[in-house]
Amino acid sequence: MQDPLIAAAIAVRENAHATFSNFKVGAAVQDESGRIYTGCNVENATYGLTVCAERVAIFKAISEGARKFTRVAVVADTESLTPPCGACRQILWEFCGDVEIVLSNLAGKTETLKLGTLFPRAFDASFL
Ligand code: THU
Repeated sequence: MQDPLIAAAIAVRENAHATFSNFKVGAAVQDESGRIYTGCNVENATYGLTVCAERVAIFKAISEGARKFTRVAVVADTESLTPPCGACRQILWEFCGDVEIVLSNLAGKTETLKLGTLFPRAFDASFL
């Protein structure tokens, strides 16, 4: 059976507003109660105002009151699995800490790693 978190990311990827890049991404975050929040990338004609799938998902979760997260899934249609961009790594670190990141593609290839390995020596609130 497919991991429900990956299935959710695959499904929401279909909603991506990727008019400019044509690069659709889906993300899903799971909180400690098991609830799943999803997001897709939403592009903008200015390009720079584009928001990645990961940030849409985590901001949706935060705005719904979720606070503790166990896993984040990211799905794109690439042979080499697509990781979160630098900005998303910073935002995910802020809200999820050293969470499990599950990368997957449409062919069913998956890899699970910790955010700390993708984003070592992060700057965060512990420095303030
Ligand atoms: N993108 C994401 O949504 N998440 C990633 O992990 C990588 C990049 C989006 C941003 C933009 O809409 C498109 O993919 C191409 O960069």
